[in-house]
Amino acid sequence: MKGKILVTGGAGYIGSHTTVELQAVGYEVVIVDNLSNSRAEVIDNIEKISGIRPAFEQVDCNDKAALDAVFKKHSGIRGIIHFAASKAVGESVEKPLLYYRNNIVPLVNILELMPIHKVEGFVFSSSCTVYGQPDAKNLPVTETAPILPATSPYGNTKQIDEEIIRDTIHASVPFKSIILRYFNPIGAHPTAEIGELPNGVPQNLVPFLTQTAMGIRKELSVFGNDYSTPDGSCIRDFINVVDLAKAHVVAVERMLNNKSKANLEYFNLGTGRGVSVLELINAFEKSTGVKVPYKIVARREGDIEQIWANPRYANEVLGWTAVETIEDTLKSAWDWQLKLRERKIM
Ligand code: UD1
Repeated sequence: MKGKILVTGGAGYIGSHTTVELQAVGYEVVIVDNLSNSRAEVIDNIEKISGIRPAFEQVDCNDKAALDAVFKKHSGIRGIIHFAASKAVGESVEKPLLYYRNNIVPLVNILELMPIHKVEGFVFSSSCTVYGQPDAKNLPVTETAPILPATSPYGNTKQIDEEIIRDTIHASVPFKSIILRYFNPIGAHPTAEIGELPNGVPQNLVPFLTQTAMGIRKELSVFGNDYSTPDGSCIRDFINVVDLAKAHVVAVERMLNNKSKANLEYFNLGTGRGVSVLELINAFEKSTGVKVPYKIVARREGDIEQIWANPRYANEVLGWTAVETIEDTLKSAWDWQLKLRERKIM
């Protein structure tokens, strides 16, 4: 065993995939999750894949005393990956204080507890949303692109979180941190045992698409085809969730093995390929043979037109590269949707 890693939000979408990858290379995982947007069965499904049951504590990271008790119970935690957060952009506009509480207070709690419990490294889930809509000259976007004003309270929480981490590390705390800025994570584990399961009507493109293909939703609305892009729809960098999960393992090892030169590093996690919404629908139909009924509707407020990553810094310095194709990734999302039907969940 290489030691214990605390994964907050480990029953969630990216957290569950990361848990499996950590276990695969010999880390012991302790999951903390309040199950506000995930299900307890995820713990069973992680065990089905890895053969190892992660420790699970149903705790809300807003509760500092309860978190402290987790550190005491599972002594010797070496690293933390902090996923637990709220992430629906639209909801954040309706309920900003919920987002400021859930996305900021737990971070402060954890950063305060880390030195007390001698935790060595902290990986933070950030988002390409911190770049806003980069100027054309800054596409594909690198880690040094300007941070632009956030277009939603959700986006603002990620910017504030990054500043909190920066200031904390600057104050010479006895741990290192790596901030990972995700582009658009999609797909599911190849076993179809874990995947993305949003509550209610999905806000994100791929869960809505797979539910439409399944007949759960009548049709997919494509938000705008009048953007200044080759086919008029928005462009994103869709990254396979298992590729993304593996980057977290590399980040943890980098900190725990003292490979990082700086105490705080930032990496863009993307493929380097921009794919439009319409191209994504075509790729899904091609790789699954399943038709997706869709219609073009008005633009969605707050959407940016186009963004994709320059992943060279992550490739060269972190030593991580996204390898999965978009076709295989979309097929995995479909297999997961089929599994949800088989389990009578959706
Ligand atoms: C958004 C956030 C991102 C956040 C992520 C997490 C912004 C700019 N982006 O990503 O920071 O980490 O959510 O949830 O705040 N689309 C449709 N029809 C749909 C759904 C989406 O056409 O039913 C389009 C959107 O207009 C967009 C693309 O698909 O162009 C991707 O949308 P989505 O999956 O919601 O992700 P982002 O908005 O890129």
